[in-house]
Amino acid sequence: MVASARDDNVSYFSLLRCAGRCRTTSLSKVLNIGPSPAFLIELDAVDLSVDGRDILRGISLATDARRLGILGRNGSGKTTLARVLAGLQKPTGGRVRIAGIDVVRDRRGALGAVGILFQNPDHQIIFPTVGEEISFGLAQMGMIKSEVRNHVAQTLARFGKLAWLEAAIHQLSQGQRQLVCLMAVLAMNPKVIILDEPFAGLDIPTAMHLSRVLAHANCTLVHITHDPRVIALYDHALWIEGGAIAMQGPAAQVAQAFETAMIELGERDDLTDLTG
Ligand SMILES: Nc1ncnc2c1ncn2[C@@H]1O[C@H](COP(=O)(O)OP(=O)(O)OP(=O)(O)O)[C@@H](O)[C@H]1O
Ligand SMILES: [Mg+2]
Repeated sequence: MVASARDDNVSYFSLLRCAGRCRTTSLSKVLNIGPSPAFLIELDAVDLSVDGRDILRGISLATDARRLGILGRNGSGKTTLARVLAGLQKPTGGRVRIAGIDVVRDRRGALGAVGILFQNPDHQIIFPTVGEEISFGLAQMGMIKSEVRNHVAQTLARFGKLAWLEAAIHQLSQGQRQLVCLMAVLAMNPKVIILDEPFAGLDIPTAMHLSRVLAHANCTLVHITHDPRVIALYDHALWIEGGAIAMQGPAAQVAQAFETAMIELGERDDLTDLTG
């Protein structure tokens, strides 16, 4: 999707309306604020292009919001932004810092700063047993073997799943595999957890259960979704369109504007605008 002048204007005015402890990067430059972590999440003019195609364009964000929503249509760049935020994908321009850590360059530091939960647990799981899967990140963080063992047991016990320690992951259901991923992320106790539509494939009780666990997690949540109702009560939200910020501000306002625009698009008969 090609950015229009209208998109740029919406983005500019929305940034000015930015809520709470939130500033635009251009303001930081004007004030000449240095590299100290003034905000938990800092993105500075992040660009990403692949094979000459711009997928993320000039994403800037600085926030301490405890609950942050990222809204966007299919193909708008949400998962790509999630991967960049988690340090899994290097941007071609700009800078990403979580809790002051450059998550691309400092991979060990990034493990304690940010965790990510994808929609499909099979894109995340790499080990054959639950215990090994939860252990991996902890060992990567530098924990010695005995500490890892204790920590894994404590994490499983917290969810009433100690019996899963030696369980073969391929014998678990998708919801159970998603719970394994969630336990693996929570075990590392990151300051920020990114949720890339992790409940899309789950039944209602399982989704409610995992949502409740996350709601009580003592960390910042960045929840990526195309459903504005999911994040309407959050503190802050971004609306991504064609890889750029179309709007950001208080979540309720962004959710409302997004929903109105999406319904308007959906009511058109023109199919050429489907999926960005
Ligand atoms: N590695 C890649 N190489 C080429 N193009 C890519 C790559 N990753 C993503 N894209 C493209 O970038 C755009 C954004 O993709 P992304 O997966 O981030 O969208 P999304 O908002 O998460 O979509 P959805 O809601 O369907 O999950 C898409 O057009 C996609 O084809
Ligand atoms: Mg996606």
